[in-house]
Amino acid sequence: MKVPVLDLKGEFEQLRGEILPALERVCENASFILGEEVEAFEQEFADFCGTKHCIALANGTAALHLGLLALGVQPDDEVITTPNTFLATAEAISYCGAWPVFVDIDPTTANLDPRLIERAVTERTRAILPVHLYGRPADMDAIGEIAERHKLRVLEDAAQAHGARYRGRRVGGLGAAAVFSFYPTKNMAAYGEAGALTTDDDQIAKFARAARSHGQTARYEHEFVGYNYRMHGFQGAVLRIKLRHLYGWTAKRQEIAREYRRLLADARVEMPVDDPRDECVYHQFVIYANNRNAVVAQLAERGIETIVHYPKPAHLQPAYSSLGCPPGTFPQAERACERVLSLPIHPGLTAEQVTYVAHAVREIVGHK
Ligand SMILES: Cc1ncc(COP(=O)(O)O)c(C=O)c1O
Repeated sequence: MKVPVLDLKGEFEQLRGEILPALERVCENASFILGEEVEAFEQEFADFCGTKHCIALANGTAALHLGLLALGVQPDDEVITTPNTFLATAEAISYCGAWPVFVDIDPTTANLDPRLIERAVTERTRAILPVHLYGRPADMDAIGEIAERHKLRVLEDAAQAHGARYRGRRVGGLGAAAVFSFYPTKNMAAYGEAGALTTDDDQIAKFARAARSHGQTARYEHEFVGYNYRMHGFQGAVLRIKLRHLYGWTAKRQEIAREYRRLLADARVEMPVDDPRDECVYHQFVIYANNRNAVVAQLAERGIETIVHYPKPAHLQPAYSSLGCPPGTFPQAERACERVLSLPIHPGLTAEQVTYVAHAVREIVGHK
């Protein structure tokens, strides 16, 4: 049986009747950059996150960049973040001329370990940038307390966590601001690049709106040197449709995750733990296995596609060799990267495919 990690073509067939007229509308109105579809999306996504503002942007990396600038991150500042993430999280810190300061993860959640954050704070620390990795909220209360004690600001990297809840509250409004990515593989995905910043803070919103459009506060009135980080009209139209489907798609992902957990309960693998007070939206369903590469190869032989998120932590990437963090610096993140693999979990999977994947994993890794 073939089990792909994604089925974007299948998803398009499901949505064809909604998407094509919406794209036609954008063409008819010739509103290719920002425009009414994007404005409507901003309102709808802010309502969804329970925030006052949503600023639609070109991609999640741009949203991270503007979010950090809006929080006042300046050259030579330090921003605390996790090494267990897609590199964009750290890159955006570097775009500001600031330094990423990595803190190891809690191996039970794969997220930033709040118990280790305080010792990384220095007088140059400006902000904390937790990532809700795989759609599982980071421990925002603990992070918020440390931030308050040291007068730091918190930017959520919610690129993988559309609709996730922490203690009942949606991510997106749990720090000073939050960043979303709508990259085509995300739970809620554009047909190209797109991202957003959400916030309750009027000042942050005002800055981000101007900064995304060359620092303009009115047409050809450039208050400061900004960027070209605007969302395209097509993406706004697509995302409005996808937002309406997100509830059902998330429920399906959570149902598949429950089934994987049930079927893999006695298999020789570990899985991140869900806090029952929170709601993980399962952007990825990861397992940790010994001999990970062999497991990946044997699953592939059975037609099951997997991806490794991520094979190397940020501090061991050549891009960050200048930080001088040799192997062994963040042992939990390093161990996770050696053992992790993501099983297929898109909403288009059938019950048979899910059972097939779980049985294959059990057969390959053995029972406890
Ligand atoms: C955790 C995380 N942060 C940031 C990004 C960057 O988002 P984008 O690809 O939209 O720039 C991504 C996704 O690609 C991500 O997974």
